Amino acid sequence: MVEFWLSCIYGGWRVRDEIKSNPGRYSTVAAALHWLTALAVMAAFVAGMRASHTSDPVHAASILRLHVPLALLAFALTIFRLAWWTLVDRLPEPLPMPVWQRIIATVVHRGLNILVLALGLSGIGLFVQSGVAAVVFGGNGGNLPNFDDFPARYVHGAFARLLFLLLALHIFAAFFHQFAKRDRIFARIGIGRP
Ligand code: HEM
Ligand code: HEM
Repeated sequence: MVEFWLSCIYGGWRVRDEIKSNPGRYSTVAAALHWLTALAVMAAFVAGMRASHTSDPVHAASILRLHVPLALLAFALTIFRLAWWTLVDRLPEPLPMPVWQRIIATVVHRGLNILVLALGLSGIGLFVQSGVAAVVFGGNGGNLPNFDDFPARYVHGAFARLLFLLLALHIFAAFFHQFAKRDRIFARIGIGRP
């Protein structure tokens, strides 16, 4: 259905390759969605860390004005990607690797998606619990609350640390494939010639 409408708009048979992955390669859309989500998640992570480690409340509020939209973008893109893989496209076959590595890769990919959703929800929970939206976005001045007074803050912090660990593992695995196994994993997902 999506293909039909896109081919009506762009009028070309190439559309199929652009939106549907094949067993050896992510489609252009799937690759773009991955890299856009990756950028938004990593930028939101850095902004969150900076907000929580700055002692100047005015500066912290201005970083949160960046953290929240970036994080909501990452949250929305993750929901969109999950819907994409369920309704429109099919993940490529995994690269040849031992079974234990394949299991870890699947767990890490699912874990990353789940953690981004959990961070989005706990972040929204923290915003609601602490009533900070009026200070950060309402423009009515006031002081930032002490986030440590709210349970959602601890949940959000714990999820963030777990995300960092999985992300480190994910990035290490990607570079290991690319440079040690030389299986051109980046080309599979849109970086470099097919
Ligand atoms: C520098 C950062 C990153 C690098 C180098 C990277 C690299 C890759 C590569 C090479 C693949 C393809 C694996 C395969 O062959 O099937 C992949 C897939 C995947 N990556 Fe990343 N990634 C990065 C950041 C992220 C981030 C921040 C997330 C989410 C929090 C993420 C989530 C996923 C998921 C869920 C998949 C499976 C395919 C999909 O759902 O789109 N990655 N990544
Ligand atoms: C992709 C989703 C998200 C990521 C990766 C993320 C990441 C982070 C990180 C790393 C921290 C610092 C944690 C610490 O030092 O213990 C943080 C704090 C925070 N985040 Fe998020 N977050 C996300 C979603 C959200 C959302 C959707 C909201 C609000 C609507 C939000 C609001 C906050 C607030 C209020 C803090 C506390 C800042 C402080 O302690 O000064 N986050 N986040």
